[in-house]
Amino acid sequence: MANLEVKNLAKSYDGKTKVLQDISFTIENGELVSILGPSGCGKTTTLRIIAGLIQETAGQILVNGKDITKTPVYKRNFGMVFQSYALFPHLNVFDNVAFGLKMHKLPKQEINEKVTGILEMTGLSDLASQFPAQLSGGQQQRVSLARALVTNPEMLLMDEPLSNLDAKLRLKMREEIRKLQQEMKMTVLFVTHDQQECFAISDKVLIMNHGRIEQFDRPENIFHHPRTEYVARFIGYDNFIPVNADNREDSYHIAVKGTRLTTEENNENAKVLTIRPENIQLNADSTENTLTGTITGREYLGQSFKYTIHSELGDFQVEEARQKMRSSGDEVKLTLPAKHLHPLSE
Ligand SMILES: Nc1ncnc2c1ncn2[C@@H]1O[C@H](COP(=O)(O)OP(=O)(O)OP(=O)(O)O)[C@@H](O)[C@H]1O
Ligand SMILES: [Mg+2]
Repeated sequence: MANLEVKNLAKSYDGKTKVLQDISFTIENGELVSILGPSGCGKTTTLRIIAGLIQETAGQILVNGKDITKTPVYKRNFGMVFQSYALFPHLNVFDNVAFGLKMHKLPKQEINEKVTGILEMTGLSDLASQFPAQLSGGQQQRVSLARALVTNPEMLLMDEPLSNLDAKLRLKMREEIRKLQQEMKMTVLFVTHDQQECFAISDKVLIMNHGRIEQFDRPENIFHHPRTEYVARFIGYDNFIPVNADNREDSYHIAVKGTRLTTEENNENAKVLTIRPENIQLNADSTENTLTGTITGREYLGQSFKYTIHSELGDFQVEEARQKMRSSGDEVKLTLPAKHLHPLSE
């Protein structure tokens, strides 16, 4: 397995529109990194340039320190799994998995050993003689994974591999992929636009927007310390309080429209303060970071209610356990705990 370094990657398909700009990141040996972002932000383009299927406009790709930017696709030892599994319908499971090895003209005995081993590892041994049309989506997905792994690639590149599966199977497959990746100490680049999925399985997440990197960090760091307003919105921070220099008392205190707010993080460069809906407390025993508001809306979320609350700082979204149902028109005290109130500078 290998480490991958992407340096200042840029791409334009038409010479004008910049689809990727200045993409730089490193995946360490044995790490699973996800690229997360909305449709059209450049995820597939990034993956395909790394695979060698598309040519970059500028930048470099290094594997274990060696520049492979100009190396043709068939000489890059990467396994790929696509959204459509692209299995050969006329070949059974065994032969689908064996295909790449046969192309490389490996001895028959070696092919048999390798394929048998990988079918076992991916739980497909009993299905070896079945054809793709006889398999469920999850089984087909596993075959495509086995086919990518059998050549013992330096790295696995996966482009939305779970998007054709139903919710329950997705969950199961993502756990299996993570387990296999950790057992084999595989380096994996995984593309998705499902936030939960990528936070659940990744060592690091790269959040993309319009062909640029917004943040590249561990999931828990992104969750608790989003770097930009874009990232914060993308991962469920619903509340944003605009601030400017006139509001600032010092690096940890801001007065906005008569409400004095304290932050634990230095807010010197903050343009906005943000807090998650579930971190705002209603009618709590606190005097710090409090203001009053009126409930104007309520949404049932199963385990909790989500309220829209109008205040002099604008509307807030607040999630609260469902035990205490509140009604429209109720006046409430909102507390925005300092440790959950994050200053954002971009
Ligand atoms: N072959 C191509 N020629 C011209 N433009 C392209 C080509 N492929 C992709 N694009 C454009 O590049 C941008 C990024 O596309 P890309 O497929 O990388 O997005 P994505 O993040 O994978 O989106 P999705 O989540 O929908 O798969 C889009 O604006 C797309 O229209
Ligand atoms: Mg894509």
